[in-house]
Amino acid sequence: DTPRIVVVGSINMDLVTTTETIPKKGETLIGEKFQMNPGGKGANQAVAAARLGVPVHMIGCVGDDSFGKDLVQHLIENGVNTSNVEPVTYITGTATIIVSNQDNRIIVTPGANNYVTADFVEKNREVIANSDILILQLEVPLEAVQKAAKIAKENDVLVILNPAPIRELPDSLIELVDYITPNEHEVQLLLKNRNIDEIKNKLILTQGSRGVVFYKNEKEVHLPAHSIKVVDTTGAGDSFNGGLAAALSKGLSIEEACRFGNAVAALSTTKMGAQTGMPTEAEVNQFLKSLEQ
Ligand code: RIB
Ligand code: NA
Repeated sequence: DTPRIVVVGSINMDLVTTTETIPKKGETLIGEKFQMNPGGKGANQAVAAARLGVPVHMIGCVGDDSFGKDLVQHLIENGVNTSNVEPVTYITGTATIIVSNQDNRIIVTPGANNYVTADFVEKNREVIANSDILILQLEVPLEAVQKAAKIAKENDVLVILNPAPIRELPDSLIELVDYITPNEHEVQLLLKNRNIDEIKNKLILTQGSRGVVFYKNEKEVHLPAHSIKVVDTTGAGDSFNGGLAAALSKGLSIEEACRFGNAVAALSTTKMGAQTGMPTEAEVNQFLKSLEQ
């Protein structure tokens, strides 16, 4: 099948502990519950787009352990093409997540995701070149992100970079990107040594409960967030990016695509886990329609 969207990125098992309060230094607490959920920003964004009915290919690495097998199986069940997901002789990436009444805290251990190198991306060049849209995040080595963006640009593939988790990015990478989608924390580092005017026309800023901002003819456009009963915000940003890419691949304008992504993100937060609440296209359209009434 011809990929419309290709994701180069991370595949993690999320190890989620829910607790009322976070332990203080040296303290042991009894938590409320423990869950293992498929995650990783790359895989989350791939699943978000696939649920919306778009053909998606994932390029990434898992370990040769049970997490790796389960995660590939899960991607397949969600309609993501995994022919370019390689099992390597290492441990699968994990994210240790503490969900408390106060906030979410996450530690990502990349494991097999570090095998996503520039050479690995080069080996999978064809699938990128044949796609319409490439989605990237920063949970795999930066050299792989840069390589993928370069291959995409050479082949007129639209590039969306979700700069998470944030780190300093070379201008040469930003130049290859069509849209960059930081959240309100990530944008601060992005703009530390840059003037906003340099990246304004590429910038789509997600602000959690305050909605989404993008620029139309240099003017700021603000889309408010939806008021919805939030259960778990893990993966909300990934849902936005997957939704944005899916909508763009269907030919929607950037404004419509942001609106669509905003709804996908909102619906995703109504269930526990990064991917559990990710909606289908019909569910998003129904939700958007219900707002008009
Ligand atoms: O964006 C959410 C994701 O970040 C989680 O699924 C976790 O794996 C971390 O990578
Ligand atoms: Na969720």
